Amino acid sequence: MTDHAAVSDFVVVSNRLPVDRTDDPEEPWRRSPGGLVTALAPFMRRTDGAWVGWPGQAGVELDPFETDGMQLVPVTLSAEDVELYYEGFSNDTIWPLYHDVISPPRYRREWWQAYVRVNRRFAEAAAAAAADGATVWVHDYQLQLVPKLLRELRPDLVIGYFHHIPFPAYGLYSQLPWRRQVLEGLLGADVIGFQRVADASNFARSVRRQLRYDTKATGITVPQPGGGERLALAKAFPISIDVDDYVQLAHSPAVRARAAEIRESLGNPKKVLLGVDRLDYTKGIGHRLKAFGELLDDGRLDVEDVTLIQVASPSRERVDAYMQLRDEVELAVGRINGSVDTVGHTAIRYLHQSFPREEMVALYLVADVMLVTALRDGMNLVAKEYVASRIDNRGVLVLSEFAGAADELGSAIRINPHDIDALKDEIVRAIEMTPAEQGRRMRALRRRVSDHTVDDWSRDFLAALDAARQARS
Ligand code: F6P
Repeated sequence: MTDHAAVSDFVVVSNRLPVDRTDDPEEPWRRSPGGLVTALAPFMRRTDGAWVGWPGQAGVELDPFETDGMQLVPVTLSAEDVELYYEGFSNDTIWPLYHDVISPPRYRREWWQAYVRVNRRFAEAAAAAAADGATVWVHDYQLQLVPKLLRELRPDLVIGYFHHIPFPAYGLYSQLPWRRQVLEGLLGADVIGFQRVADASNFARSVRRQLRYDTKATGITVPQPGGGERLALAKAFPISIDVDDYVQLAHSPAVRARAAEIRESLGNPKKVLLGVDRLDYTKGIGHRLKAFGELLDDGRLDVEDVTLIQVASPSRERVDAYMQLRDEVELAVGRINGSVDTVGHTAIRYLHQSFPREEMVALYLVADVMLVTALRDGMNLVAKEYVASRIDNRGVLVLSEFAGAADELGSAIRINPHDIDALKDEIVRAIEMTPAEQGRRMRALRRRVSDHTVDDWSRDFLAALDAARQARS
């Protein structure tokens, strides 16, 4: 395959590039949303490889280019591809199905056909960018067919796949009309990584039930088209963040000054609560608002003393379920604020915006209590970012047991967001927690987050891929 123009020994493939094209001539590129980019960008800046992905706007055709120390290879999606493959199959079929059908998934054959077509395009772009015997690391649910398609095009490659979101229980997964094709697509990889042990075992069970392949511990025996078999590894590799980056920002005098300014601008409440999410129905924003609103109504909290800052960054704005969610959240915020605000104090400072990391860390420093109330979440890196930023060992993390992060962050206050009364009690407990208990819990959380950074995650995954390479020869 040495006839390729510029080829790399290491290639990452994800739906989005780390930067999105905008229509603003002042700022033509913007950092892309989501946990995947947060996790991968620092690693890719230090790695001499290529990143294949979509530049975030329909119809944009670009040659490969370099930015921020990364070699980017854009894949073009037409307006129709965006509608059928991205908004349709990825975000209105797979996303709700894999998040335990919180919103009903829609199964449309036209969307599936577009998913196959676009996955093939990504596989071709990756095949063209990869040198002989290269390692290719494919990411996330938008590209589940790429491992198999890529292996067919380039059997010389070592292929990894990491799944950033949950993999559902078999009883739900089996709804998918294309359940066999998706499993076969994923099994094109040598190593298939998941966030939680439970996700890896859900996947193995689906493989046993649907394909009748043998699975033993983390190994899956995959029959080969020409006869014979190979072993694929399906295992948990919990993702993390660049901890040093957050610690550094938390020490920055500019960020600290900004934190003080934010608190002042809220009228110096005694306690500040914070929620930071993409505006997504999986995040449990409605449950959080309900609990907080009731606490104010019940008189257990007073608007003069407590403010909730809710950052809800815009996401998938043309998908119906997201439009509906925005209406619901904004109605709830308006109702709560309208009934309890005073001229000087607001209950909820709602921000339907995205912010740079400096501003996010300033918010983490302001937050006495961080609320992560996801109904289902692959990992939730916001929880880890909050912990990494609390260099003062203060602050309380309230964390849903349905977020992957709950497997690791045992010293958080653990909640079931569906249980509104318990959620209310735990919010009050977090607000009233003594500094000594805050310190004890936060130190334990910080130890865990520092012991397992995004570098450890990528190193562990790539070591598994290296082992797969050794096993081949
Ligand atoms: O990790 C989940 C994820 O869906 C990523 O794959 C994605 O890039 C991010 O969240 C944000 O979503 P979107 O790319 O649809 O804006």
